[in-house]
Amino acid sequence: MVSTTVFRALARALSILSATPQGYAAAVPPHSGCGKPLSYGQSPSSFHNVTIWSGNLERRFVVFIPPAYDTLRPSQLIVSFHGGTKTAEEQISLDSLTSDDFNAQSIVIYPQGYNNTWQGTPGRITNDVLFTSDILDYVEATYCIDPKRIMSTGKSQGAGVCNLLACDATLSQRIAAYAPVSGAYYVDSIPCYPDTVAFPCSPGRSDIPILAFHGGNDTVISYNGGDRKGQCLPSIPHWIQAWASRDGLDVSRNRSTLIATNATKYSFGPPSSRCENPGKFSYVNLVYDSDIGHDWPSTTPNDDNQKPYHYVASFNATPIILDFFKHYPLP
Ligand SMILES: *[C@@H]1O[C@H](CO)[C@@H](O)[C@H](O)[C@H]1NC(C)=O
Ligand SMILES: *[C@@H]1O[C@H](CO)[C@@H](O)[C@H](O)[C@H]1NC(C)=O
Ligand SMILES: *[C@@H]1O[C@H](CO)[C@@H](O)[C@H](O)[C@H]1NC(C)=O
Ligand SMILES: *[C@@H]1O[C@H](CO)[C@@H](O)[C@H](O)[C@H]1NC(C)=O
Ligand SMILES: *[C@@H]1O[C@H](CO)[C@@H](O)[C@H](O)[C@H]1NC(C)=O
Repeated sequence: MVSTTVFRALARALSILSATPQGYAAAVPPHSGCGKPLSYGQSPSSFHNVTIWSGNLERRFVVFIPPAYDTLRPSQLIVSFHGGTKTAEEQISLDSLTSDDFNAQSIVIYPQGYNNTWQGTPGRITNDVLFTSDILDYVEATYCIDPKRIMSTGKSQGAGVCNLLACDATLSQRIAAYAPVSGAYYVDSIPCYPDTVAFPCSPGRSDIPILAFHGGNDTVISYNGGDRKGQCLPSIPHWIQAWASRDGLDVSRNRSTLIATNATKYSFGPPSSRCENPGKFSYVNLVYDSDIGHDWPSTTPNDDNQKPYHYVASFNATPIILDFFKHYPLP
């Protein structure tokens, strides 16, 4: 058992370390929530609504405190964005990130989109990059968070938010890795050329880890892209190759691995060198399942795969996402 005093000294040392060259744009000092007891009524394995003001709007998010939460041990933090027209609660039921089977350690945040939608979708005016930044400030000041292990995932429009965060000069230095699922990556560029459209994107570093998932029978956000809501959706191969290029990787070559029946992972760049699982991922990865639709891939029934003409997948996206996050904390 590490005493609080020892921990405080450690936290101070860590905050000095993380204040050096990289310099995150966090408004709160790293580890400032460590050592704080949980608020009255909060305990491990529970969900809590939080309301904050952000961009002159009252905004809501749900915090999941994991079973193994320890006020003295910095936790990984995952932010999971729901799809368009959905809610934080629906994302909780979809992503399985709060299931004991997959996650005992990570705090998970479920932001609620204003009017159930997100920045990046044509016609939306909220600032959800700012909202995310405000959430991170709150959560880092309230809970014991490892500032090098803040991750993001999301479905559809929520995956689009992950892309916006990865493209943001500041947030890309605060969020370590990104796992967008069935993403809608709108670009305001008409006429639409899905295989060549250029994206406005200014990440603050050139080693952004991405693990994307997309179904070959996605009839909402097509794998091949095209016109939608008056804007242009890139083809998913073009979009992932653009990330490989931004990360300075060889776009013309990928490693392709069959990870399950009908599901192939395309990886760009040198394989990761993590000792537990060397070679498993690269910085930029796309898992393409030829059969599934606009779904969060899961081998068990979920809200997506039980619709007519949708199927359970031959693999679970959630443990793959968690494994990927383990490989890529902030450098
Ligand atoms: C949070 O608030 C929403 C809507 O206001 C409600 O539906 C949900 O049950 C609440 N969740 C918790 C954990 O209190
Ligand atoms: C939310 O929806 C209402 C009703 O359609 C609209 O008047 C309002 O402008 C929307 N707010 C935002 C921030 O998009
Ligand atoms: C693809 O999805 C559409 C719409 O959900 C459905 O009509 C069609 O049968 C699906 N195709 C296959 C091969 O599953
Ligand atoms: C990966 O490389 C193969 C073989 O060159 C190619 O057919 C495939 O389209 C590439 N995948 C992506 C996502 O670029
Ligand atoms: C793989 O794809 C084939 C052809 O589309 C389909 O018949 C089969 O059910 C799929 N298998 C799985 C496990 O999804």
